[in-house]
Amino acid sequence: MAVLVAADSPVIRALGSTHHASGVRTIRLGLVGLGQVGQAVARLVPAASRHTDTYLRFRVAGALVRDVTRARRCPTPARLTTNPAAFLRGTYDLVIEASGTVEPARTMIRRLLGRGVPVVTANKALVAAHGEELLALAALRGTTLRYEASALAGVPFLGTLAARPLVSRVQRFAAILNGTSNFILSSLNAGRGSFDEALAASQARGFTEPDPSRDLDGVDTVDKLSLLASLFGWGHIPAHAVDVDGIRGITAEDLSAARSLGGTIKPLVWAERTATDIRVWVAPTLVPGTHPLATLSGALNGIHLSGRFVSDLFFSGPGAGPDVTAATILDDAVEAVTTVQRFPCAPRSVPMVPVVSPETGWFVRARFPGLVPDASATAQIFAGQHLRVRSVTSPAGDARWVRLETASRRTIDAALAAVAHTHRVQCRAFRVMEHEEHGL
Ligand SMILES: NC(=O)c1ccc[n+]([C@@H]2O[C@H](COP(=O)([O-])OP(=O)(O)OC[C@H]3O[C@@H](n4cnc5c(N)ncnc54)[C@H](OP(=O)(O)O)[C@@H]3O)[C@@H](O)[C@H]2O)c1
Repeated sequence: MAVLVAADSPVIRALGSTHHASGVRTIRLGLVGLGQVGQAVARLVPAASRHTDTYLRFRVAGALVRDVTRARRCPTPARLTTNPAAFLRGTYDLVIEASGTVEPARTMIRRLLGRGVPVVTANKALVAAHGEELLALAALRGTTLRYEASALAGVPFLGTLAARPLVSRVQRFAAILNGTSNFILSSLNAGRGSFDEALAASQARGFTEPDPSRDLDGVDTVDKLSLLASLFGWGHIPAHAVDVDGIRGITAEDLSAARSLGGTIKPLVWAERTATDIRVWVAPTLVPGTHPLATLSGALNGIHLSGRFVSDLFFSGPGAGPDVTAATILDDAVEAVTTVQRFPCAPRSVPMVPVVSPETGWFVRARFPGLVPDASATAQIFAGQHLRVRSVTSPAGDARWVRLETASRRTIDAALAAVAHTHRVQCRAFRVMEHEEHGL
């Protein structure tokens, strides 16, 4: 029986030149990396074939790894190799890159795009460093590079904004972009064990980067910030220009002190594009308890953004996890082989503007060497460094937490170094997110 399909339908485009008698097109996948994410992709392939376009079937044709003897929790691919050249000799309709390295991933993706093979990646470090170059190459060769899973892994957010030029004119956003950090701080907040236990639990769930310091030190968030800035048309943000602080050393007592002020500490990125500069910080931040970002716990991620044409837009959902990431990757794969849409929009040439660290309020843990002074004496120690004190918490153990008015990072660092020198007080400073509606 003949089946008629409109000439411009996605089905016809999907069938391309390999139109089988059954009308089904088999998509031969190459996998670069068969770790947490790669294995989840390989496990999801049979279900993806059942649930996606009736005319598509996925098959893993080959995979590149470092160690072929390693046990894998997925069906064994037809070919498994440690040799990039041998992998590249395979025939693929689409390649999924989930290796987590910048090289050899970049070189391989260049080769594949150069041959017109569409690529889907979850590798934010790669996209942040080389995304524009690779997108330009994909456009030149009439193919696609997609990276929806590289930020807010389980939330179809990048593609949505890439396709909507007005909404994507974002001017300011605050976001939680790192699942591991949010998982650890949420665990501390809920009294579920120590920092190290929470990190181990995050690793066991597959949320954590191959190199955990990328999560704990804010590097992963800076990469995601960079690719978002590019998507929003802000231009390139060099990683070295960003004021970044990680979550190491945060304690359950810090979270408890934040709660006493009606807030919580979240691993935040805050960024604003003004007429003259980009203001940005990546740091554990005291967030008002009523702000939508404060409600995100575990590995949930979220972004709250405002722009020229929209305000208070909020996306949230799973930010990490192999299975959810694999679903996003395979959705990207379906779109890449069924549509001609480029993703995200082609890079815009934007003049570089200075990237600066903005002034904010501060929330400081002050740990005293001996007897904890009373609130007024504590305030005087900080006032002595010309910092304006808003409040001081009750003591917990050897510490108090001091809420300070607006100051620059440089002022705070210098003042806290002086306090450590003169009073032997050990301080840990958190930024404070001010918000018109959600004050602290
Ligand atoms: N995990 C998540 O929840 C998540 C979420 C969103 C995005 N991502 C991104 O997904 C990517 C992969 O993360 P993952 O958690 O799956 O990492 P992973 O478990 O460490 O897996 C990495 C895989 O890549 C292979 N590999 C690494 N370097 C290689 C090289 N030079 N040559 C060949 N193969 C190499 C490894 O081979 P062996 O197995 O032989 O060692 C392994 O199979 C990263 O870019 C990460 O940022 C992860």
